[in-house]
Amino acid sequence: MSGYFVVFEGGEGAGKSTQEALLAEALRDRGLTVTQTREPGGTPAGEAIRHVVLSPEFTGLDVRAEALLFAAARGEHADKVIRPALDRGDVVICDRYLDSSVAYQGFARGLGPKRIRDLSLWATQELVPDLTIVLDIDPVEGLGRFQERDRLEAEPMEYHQQVRAAFLAMAEEQPDRYLVLSARDDRETIAAAILERVLAGMATA
Ligand code: TYD
Repeated sequence: MSGYFVVFEGGEGAGKSTQEALLAEALRDRGLTVTQTREPGGTPAGEAIRHVVLSPEFTGLDVRAEALLFAAARGEHADKVIRPALDRGDVVICDRYLDSSVAYQGFARGLGPKRIRDLSLWATQELVPDLTIVLDIDPVEGLGRFQERDRLEAEPMEYHQQVRAAFLAMAEEQPDRYLVLSARDDRETIAAAILERVLAGMATA
């Protein structure tokens, strides 16, 4: 038996965590077992790496080191949390995954999308989501929702615009594996669209 792997992607302030919680609740109401997790993080080593990549303490961190840290956290996460949950038959809901590295490190940092994707595929032994939900938001609006910014949120607006374009381009390439929704719609409308697509995906998986 194998579960179903759903990832939420999008810029800062898109309301990912709200939608993840609503989806988890709706699936649990239907009797399904859900594992909710996030990147970077999800394991003790992953949370330690999260501190390094997000803390302003490490301003100026080398971009390649940053990319390797995200990939390292992901490898550990796939091995210790995601794959075991899928093997048990759970629905896994993950806040960010491989596409975040492709968008942020591959495109916005200019390290090359293919190289970054390959690195994460290697780290996770090719574990890819069944469905990726992109909550699309203009970064001017998304970042405006925060007062304080972590090391990455403090990047210039152009960086966040590149990230947005990257998510949309990836979704366009593989429409059967992505659902793009405007984060400006009301939360019930978004939640209903997500649930419908997840249930349909699970039925055909
Ligand atoms: P987080 O506080 O979890 O942001 P959000 O609530 O927007 O998900 O911080 C994660 C940050 O790390 C976010 O700026 C995106 C960035 N990130 C990468 O640059 N590469 C990655 O592979 C991942 C998973 C996240």
